[in-house]
Amino acid sequence: MAMKRYTHLLKPFQIKNVKFKNRMAKTSQWFVYPEPDGSVGERLKAFYASIAKGGVGLVIVEESSCEYSLGVSRMPHIRVDDDRFLPGLRELARVIHAYDCPAFVQITHAGPAHSPFDGQAPVAPSSIDPPAQPGFALARELDVEKIKDIIERYARAALRVKEAEFDGCEIHLGHYALGNAFLSRIQNKRRDEYGCDTLQNRARFGREIIERTRELAGPDFVVGVRLSAKEWGHPLGTTNEEAVEFARIFEKAGADYIQSSGYGYNEFFRCWAPDAVLFPEVPRAAKSFAARIPKGALLPEAAAIKKAVSIPVTGVGRLDADIGEKALRQGNIDMVWLGRRLMVDPAYPRKVAEGRIRDIRPCTGCLFCFSHLLTTTPVRCRWNPFLGNEHELGCDGTEFNPAPVKKRVLVVGAGPGGMEAARVAALRGHEVFLYDREKRLGGLLLLASFIKGRDFDDVALSLEWYERQLGRQKNLQVVLGKEVDPGLVKEISPDTVILSPGSKWELPEIPGTEGRNVVTASLLKEKAKGFLDHLGTDVMSYLSKVYLPIGKRVIVVGGDLKGLEAALFLVKRGRKVFIVEEGETLGEGMNEHLKSKFFPWMEAHGGITAYTGVRCNEITPEGMVVTTREGEHTTLKADTVMIIEKVKKNHDLYDAIKGAVPEVYVIGDAKEDRSVWIHGAVHDGARAGFSV
Ligand SMILES: Cc1cc2nc3c(=O)[nH]c(=O)nc-3n(C[C@H](O)[C@H](O)[C@H](O)COP(=O)(O)OP(=O)(O)OC[C@H]3O[C@@H](n4cnc5c(N)ncnc54)[C@H](O)[C@@H]3O)c2cc1C
Ligand SMILES: Cc1cc2nc3c(=O)[nH]c(=O)nc-3n(C[C@H](O)[C@H](O)[C@H](O)COP(=O)(O)O)c2cc1C
Ligand code: SF4
Repeated sequence: MAMKRYTHLLKPFQIKNVKFKNRMAKTSQWFVYPEPDGSVGERLKAFYASIAKGGVGLVIVEESSCEYSLGVSRMPHIRVDDDRFLPGLRELARVIHAYDCPAFVQITHAGPAHSPFDGQAPVAPSSIDPPAQPGFALARELDVEKIKDIIERYARAALRVKEAEFDGCEIHLGHYALGNAFLSRIQNKRRDEYGCDTLQNRARFGREIIERTRELAGPDFVVGVRLSAKEWGHPLGTTNEEAVEFARIFEKAGADYIQSSGYGYNEFFRCWAPDAVLFPEVPRAAKSFAARIPKGALLPEAAAIKKAVSIPVTGVGRLDADIGEKALRQGNIDMVWLGRRLMVDPAYPRKVAEGRIRDIRPCTGCLFCFSHLLTTTPVRCRWNPFLGNEHELGCDGTEFNPAPVKKRVLVVGAGPGGMEAARVAALRGHEVFLYDREKRLGGLLLLASFIKGRDFDDVALSLEWYERQLGRQKNLQVVLGKEVDPGLVKEISPDTVILSPGSKWELPEIPGTEGRNVVTASLLKEKAKGFLDHLGTDVMSYLSKVYLPIGKRVIVVGGDLKGLEAALFLVKRGRKVFIVEEGETLGEGMNEHLKSKFFPWMEAHGGITAYTGVRCNEITPEGMVVTTREGEHTTLKADTVMIIEKVKKNHDLYDAIKGAVPEVYVIGDAKEDRSVWIHGAVHDGARAGFSV
């Protein structure tokens, strides 16, 4: 079945003498897993082994720097600038090859993306003030001598990669790296032979790297190029027509393939992950780009390159097996580069080959992973707790060794924490009972998916996946609509209890909370429950756009992630919203990437006004009396006051059963007086299920 549906995707391919068992490749992604000095360690090897084991046709090892420290954006990046890193690199090639999977290394120089962690300002073709992308440091202009030195470093790094027995390299000339800065008129203002006067001059840096690499590494070593096939959102951005010419130049210089990506500024910020333009609202300028996402937003530009060159062209950007298969069939690309799909499920290619499409763990597009790069912390995936922990746990989450002792495991609560704990415990062979007092699986995911909708971060996709996975485990019994109390625990007589009952919600002490104009999150949850059970989140989400029993002006009390999402939900339904937050900051729980999108949007939109450091004195029929941080007493006028309750730990059942059951875990939101959010619950669940 899968063989027929994915004939093109599963067809072997080759570049030069390097053979791939299918057309899927792991794209280059820096995950902050290398050792502090830039060498390859156990964590990195275990991660890449897991990807190769999953059946992908080719691995591109993440961006690796040809010069230290100017060529590194931030540490720890893999260093390919010195022979002393060769032993680790060899080991890395070996662990990937062990799964019959070839590997290339992406070689880069950060250029303008270098952060001055070493006290040195970045280097670029030109010094642009302010830098083209906000948040980056002001760069110094490179002189020709240094440009030639960097070209040599690229080529030497490629040779080193070859000596480490990799099958090829990918020269990074895309995104915000130095290679792209020469190609782009946004950053290249030079008038010399590397300058912006002609396409040939703009391409000279890249061309000379390819030529010198070929000279050093020989004719058989694969030398690919990653290119931004278009720079979106800036009048001086590289056009697709220009990128097509660059691809032609690089082909002539000896490149073996073109990896066609994209890059963006302003409304298109981070559009190399095309879905990043969707949150919190698609800007007018990006509407047609957003409409392309389901078909592969960056593919039309890749297809234009493909028409112009005879070497293979590969596509990337929120692709999956279906989009990829279609693009291959239409002849628009030759291979499909995958990133996040493999992060959330490294066995994606194997499952495609085996026809187990519905078993593939979905990437909801939350960009929780990416936000780690902004804080230079090891990347984690919200839904795949094993990513990056393969070495520590001795497991990549795609296969489990049976538990040495089979136990009866009772899991209380079928939110994300409980579902993951039950899934993992069952996969390890335990006899598992998953109970929830509600009639549906999901816990707060149901309400979250209703509020969030499906356009961005499609939580419902994950919930549907859990429903399928839990349903197919014969040693896992799901019991819904049944509250677990100490009596039931005694009756079931488990060896282990995993408690994931979620938090308790506490109403803040504000006079007037009993007023008719007040709605609380728990009340909404209760009211929505029956409808959500019968109509589902999609229908409810649609209906709420037509009818919502909430006034036109709404005060939302509480400015954490839930408060911001509630505000966004209301604004998208025509309400004017005031957020009042007693703390100093907004957005606790929202990932750093989303914050960087949400707050500028909020400022520009005007539909949400937020007050932090506010004391809520009283709710009145007119709205709410508050004391501002400046000490001013004022009434915020509103028709409705929506209270997002404070979360409190939930240890009641734990206190009642501890001592009576040999092994008890408390996980997820129940643990402490603060939310651990979906990722915390899922990660806790996996660890508990894995520890039993
Ligand atoms: C509107 C909204 C939007 C949100 N958006 C996001 C978001 O974008 N990103 C994010 O990371 N987080 C978000 N969250 C928070 C996230 O949903 C929670 O942090 C997460 O669901 C906690 O998971 P959990 O498994 O610990 O508990 P829960 O999801 O709360 O599940 C607990 C389950 O236990 C059951 N239960 C409790 N006691 C018993 C008992 N004695 N017997 C049987 N069953 C019992 C409950 O019925 C419930 O189903 C949002 C929450 C809300 C309300
Ligand atoms: C966490 C993360 C790290 C990334 N690191 C790199 C990198 O090192 N070099 C690079 O060229 N692109 C990098 N990218 C971009 C990816 O290669 C890819 O283009 C992007 O993830 C879109 O593909 P996807 O939708 O399949 O994830 C990164 C993306 C993510 C999410
Ligand atoms: S963190 Fe979110 S966006 Fe990133 S791979 Fe996981 S599910 Fe996808």
